[in-house]
Parts: sequence; C-alpha cells; structure tokens
Amino acid sequence: MKITIIGTGYVGLVSGACLADVGNDVLCFDVNAEKIRVLREGGIPIYEPGLEAMVMKNVVAGRLRFTTEIPEAVAHGVIQFIAVGTPPDGDGSADIEYVVTAARNVGKYMTDYKVIVNKSTVPVGTADKVRAAIAEELKVRNNLTPYSVVSNPEFLKEGAAIEDFMKPDRIVIGSEEPRAVELMRELYAPFQRNHERLIVMDVKSAELTKYAANAMLATRISFMNELANCAEALGADIEFVRKGIGADPRIGIHFLYPGIGYGGSCFPKDVKALIRAASEAGQTLGILQAVEYANEAQKSVLSKKIVTRLGSNLSGKTIALWGLAFKPNTDDMREAPSRVLIADLLGHGARIQAYDPVATHEAQRVFGNEPRITYAMTPMEALEGADVLAIVTEWKEFRAPDFQAIRSKLKTPVIFDGRNLYDPAAPGKAGLEYFAIGRKV
Ligand SMILES: NC(=O)c1ccc[n+]([C@@H]2O[C@H](COP(=O)([O-])OP(=O)(O)OC[C@H]3O[C@@H](n4cnc5c(N)ncnc54)[C@H](O)[C@@H]3O)[C@@H](O)[C@H]2O)c1
Repeated sequence: MKITIIGTGYVGLVSGACLADVGNDVLCFDVNAEKIRVLREGGIPIYEPGLEAMVMKNVVAGRLRFTTEIPEAVAHGVIQFIAVGTPPDGDGSADIEYVVTAARNVGKYMTDYKVIVNKSTVPVGTADKVRAAIAEELKVRNNLTPYSVVSNPEFLKEGAAIEDFMKPDRIVIGSEEPRAVELMRELYAPFQRNHERLIVMDVKSAELTKYAANAMLATRISFMNELANCAEALGADIEFVRKGIGADPRIGIHFLYPGIGYGGSCFPKDVKALIRAASEAGQTLGILQAVEYANEAQKSVLSKKIVTRLGSNLSGKTIALWGLAFKPNTDDMREAPSRVLIADLLGHGARIQAYDPVATHEAQRVFGNEPRITYAMTPMEALEGADVLAIVTEWKEFRAPDFQAIRSKLKTPVIFDGRNLYDPAAPGKAGLEYFAIGRKV
C-alpha cells in the first residue's frame, strides 16, 4: 500500500519505518528541512532502540523515502497519516494548528480518494475540524474528490516504540465509513496475525480513548508517588506496599513504580488537555487536577531531600546526576523531571556534573551553555570531584554499580535515588548513606 506520513517525529518516523518494514511503500514528509536532510543522508534525528537499523534497511530496500515537498507527499499515499505535534497552548488545551495545516495541505493538492488518518493525539472533535479544513480547500478548487477522515491514536512508548508498533496491544480505529475501515483493516493485517487487535468505534470515542489511556497511566504514577511519600512519613516501605497491591489482578504490578514524577512529551500535556477539554464541556475532572498537582510537587522531592541533608546553601557543592532523559532508552527531555531538579539545585547555588548514555546532546540544547553544568562521558566520570550522587533516570547501566568505587569518589558519601534502584542494604554496606523514594532505609 502507498502511505504518506505527515510529520516525521517520534511517532511519524517509527510508524513510517514499521509500515515500510512489512512491505508498504512509505513516503515521510516533514516541514523541518534539517530533519529530512539528516534522514536522507542516512542519519537519524532521534534516539530510539532499533530504529536506525530499521530505517536504513527499508531505505535501502526502496520502501522508505523522505521529502519536504507537499504536492509529492499528498500525491503519494492513499492513506495520509497525520503525525505532527500537538503541543499545549497557553491555557493547557492541545494546539491543533499543525494538524489543521497538514489537513489543509492534503485538501489543496489531492486529486484522488484519500483516507486522512489522525495519529496525533488530538482533542475530541478534531476529526470534524480536519474534515472541514479539507472540504474548504476542495471547495476553493471546485473539486469533488471523495475522502475519509479516521482517528487512529498511537499508543507506542518511547524507548520501546518499535516493539509497541509491531506488536500492538490494540489498534483503535475511529470511523463510521466502511470503505475507510476496510482499508485500515488491510493496512494493519500484518500486525495482528495471531489475533484481531482492531477495535473499531466512532471517531469521538477513539479520540477520547487516547487521552483516557494516558490520564489513567498518569494517575497510577501520581497515586504511587503520593503513597510513597506517605509510606516514608509513616515509617513503611513502598516497595513492599507496591508488591502487596500489585499482586491483586484488579490492580496489576505493571507501571506501579514510585519516582520523581512523570515527564515526556505526552502525559503532562495530555492530562492538561483533557482537564481543559472537559472544563470547556462543563465537566470538572477533579481526579486529574490532583494528578497534575501531585506530579508537579513530586518533581521537587529529590532536591528537597538533598537540601535537607546538605543544607540550603549548595554553593561550592557539585551534585553528580545519573540520567537526564525523562525515562530510559530515549533522548527525549521534554518535561523531564531532571529539568526541575537541575533548576532547583542551581537555584541553591550547586554545580551539576551529569551523565546520560544518550541525552547529553539534547541536554546541551535545552540548557545552552550554562557554565554550572558539565557533562561526563561515563557514570564514574560524573562522580569526579562531586559531593553527592543523585539518580534521576533508571537506565539499566545504573542498576548494579560498584558501591565501593562510588564511595571512594564522593566527597560526602550519599546517594539520592529518585528511582528506587537498589536494595537499601547494598549502598549501606559500602558505607554510603542512601535516600530513596518512600523506602525504609
Ligand atoms: N512521542 C510519543 O511517545 C507519542 C506517543 C503517542 C502519541 N504521540 C502523539 O503524536 C503526535 C506527534 O508526537 P511526536 O512526539 O512524534 O512529535 P515530534 O515533535 O517528535 O514530531 C512532530 C513532527 O511534525 C512536524 N510537523 C509540524 N507541522 C507539520 C506539517 N504541517 N507538516 C508536516 N510536518 C509537520 C515537525 O517538524 C516534527 O518533526 C503528538 O500529538 C503526540 O502527542 C506521541
């Protein structure tokens, strides 16, 4: 099948590569000429495990191409996926300007039947706006070419995006048009050979399903974070509590870890956007307001522990950070808790010496040439001359460190662990003080 992907970011590039990998002819379009140049020259603009090899393989096979030309992009695919960003507006609502622009471009140039598929996370009612934008452009050209608009929200997780796309838990299709549903069924057939994963529903329900999923996941995280703080105050250990409640199949053990708050390009903006959309419809989502409030507070939990232990004047102190990305296996730093932690620590006069396996270049972009932050090439190098260590992202390589070596490097032998990576006895045995989230240490 010929497919056009509009917006070649995390979602667009992964979707394009995976769809090409099962044999489709995919053209990825982006307005960012630099991104397309990098891709055309064999590079890759983001870090995502397995993506570079998959892109390369499909480019070589001639199934995956990149362009900045709108007419070429529109002419190519019978299916036009919209996978552009939907950033938060000033009031928290999702800005669908890029989605509507993408739709208008399709309307301006299409000459035969197209299925326009919204893969971006968009508020309920956006498909209607996409449909209207295309209709307006066709009217200008006096053109009666038929088209369908489908909602197909994406559920992939950065860091495991290829696996998620190739083996989806479910494929949500919002459409009331049999012709479009049939095409989507055909497109996704290779991804559901073992059992049917397509859930077909009306467009608005599909749009809401994506927000509902992220809101539920964010709620679990904020719930566990507040409970961890509570466990700490009451002298209980959240790790036991986590296992104790996770064993109940109604609760489940997955995605139940306390930490220093959720971040990334999705949960924060999607929770805000859902609160806003509900409020515009006269509904108050009190639970989600609390989820957001708890998350903002949680991002400062580690800096508060550091200040409590070292004092509020951190000038002359260097804090080693392990991890900058908002979660492991990605270089994404959008809304990363590390940003709040670093701002808090700099505010108290500290210097930062940070290590992240892949997000250093992104951090350098985010923090510019802030002289109080330096970047290390290895976890141990980050400890050189540092006072204490704070763990921010749960990269695998931090899970079994040499605690004796850490102790010998730090001026004050303390670990502040924002991800509960260790059995508290292990750093203790090496003479390290250990602070975690909601743990009995
Ligand atoms: N990142 C994720 O893990 C994830 C997961 C599920 C859903 N989503 C949703 O998918 C959407 C895209 O997210 P992302 O993380 O891939 O964003 P991104 O910022 O990585 O990529 C978006 C791309 O769209 C391009 N773009 C903007 N306007 C365009 C236009 N008119 N025509 C062509 N290209 C245009 C941008 O240049 C950019 O390259 C968002 O709505 C997001 O909420 C993201």
